[in-house]
Amino acid sequence: MKIGIDKIGFYTPHLYVDMNKLAVSRNVEPEKFTIGIGQEKMAIPPLTQDAVSLAANAALKILDDDDKEKIDFVIFGTESGIDHSKSAAVYVHQLLGLKPQARAIELKQACYGATAGIQMAKGHIALHPGSKVLVLGSDIARYGLNTSGEATQGAGAVALLISADPKIMVLEEHNAYMTADIMDFWRPIYADKAFVDGKFSNEQYIAFFNNVWRQYKEKTGLELQDYEAICYHLPYTKMGKKALRTILDEGTVVDQERIMANYQISTAYNRVVGNIYTGSLYLSLLSLLEQKENLEAGSRIGLYSYGSGAVGEFFSGILQPNYRKHLQIDQHTKLFSERTEVTVPEYEAIFEETLPTNDRKVELEIDQDPATICFAGITDNKRQYINKSAK
Ligand code: COA
Repeated sequence: MKIGIDKIGFYTPHLYVDMNKLAVSRNVEPEKFTIGIGQEKMAIPPLTQDAVSLAANAALKILDDDDKEKIDFVIFGTESGIDHSKSAAVYVHQLLGLKPQARAIELKQACYGATAGIQMAKGHIALHPGSKVLVLGSDIARYGLNTSGEATQGAGAVALLISADPKIMVLEEHNAYMTADIMDFWRPIYADKAFVDGKFSNEQYIAFFNNVWRQYKEKTGLELQDYEAICYHLPYTKMGKKALRTILDEGTVVDQERIMANYQISTAYNRVVGNIYTGSLYLSLLSLLEQKENLEAGSRIGLYSYGSGAVGEFFSGILQPNYRKHLQIDQHTKLFSERTEVTVPEYEAIFEETLPTNDRKVELEIDQDPATICFAGITDNKRQYINKSAK
């Protein structure tokens, strides 16, 4: 049975900061951010967007009535959860009007959560071929003002509909994965910003990649030449390139040029959004599929997922005939073109705005946020969401 990605939705908040201007205000050469790290713009989430609303907005535009009837499992990968007990998936299930006969859970393993969700979805569809699974990867990356991680923040969500006979990409049978208990990036329960050992994290990302790449080659017999492109989890767009460079000499010059050119295209959206943790790999895949017009059906795309702490996985998919017809290219072009730039002081003020940690009632101004689904406040310790299209 063919199982894979049937639809892909994406959402990022309407505000961004320019990385050149952020560099100037931090007394850093702009090229460090735009070339050394590889980021041009960084999405800034207003208080009216959280992991739930971002994910719901990402999924809103891709689901039709038939999908809603068939979805019986919602899997939410995130490391920006809003509740220790109740899953973010339950909120999204309600906001999207999905049928009650469904499972809804949240998964956590840093940026790896959505990949775990996809693999779980694959098993579910194998047992229940008539059903569909909604997998969400949604996060807000926060390292703190004036920190070395600051230039690698961002916010956004990707929604993937997983089904049998998918319209976009069939996931191949094999996977290669590994786990090791390391402290390269983590966020204790009491902290609202991540701790990171940046250099160690970079090293481990590459070491895990080399390990799962080798395992996958041994399991499948596939070589670099068999891939049209390889997409990476992208905490910042230079990161994937560092890992890719370690295997490039396994191919001919033609392979190297193809894979490197496609890598550049696969970073297009990530360069102007920043890190979205669980969704980053799938945002990179979306960049490639939407920004490269002549990828042929039947092409194999490799996918490298990495979640600090750490779990790494390599797997691959085959593009399906007419896959481009099932992408939301116009919608995503509009989403990017309608964003508003904020100044560095405005970004800092938004960053410092936080919710109370007691039971005080909160009412947020959602009229300033063009998103269809917004986080509107907290009443009686219960988060309130509004779907403007359901009014
Ligand atoms: N022009 C071009 N490149 C420049 C430059 C300039 N003027 N100045 C610096 N650079 C390059 C550096 O050479 C370096 O490139 P390299 O990594 O290829 O050697 C890059 O810019 C970054 O510089 P560096 O000094 O290493 O930056 P930093 O100490 O501020 O930290 C990170 C960068 C990425 C480690 C940091 O932002 C971080 O920790 N981010 C979070 C990492 C993460 O997300 N990990 C978790 C999941 S994988």
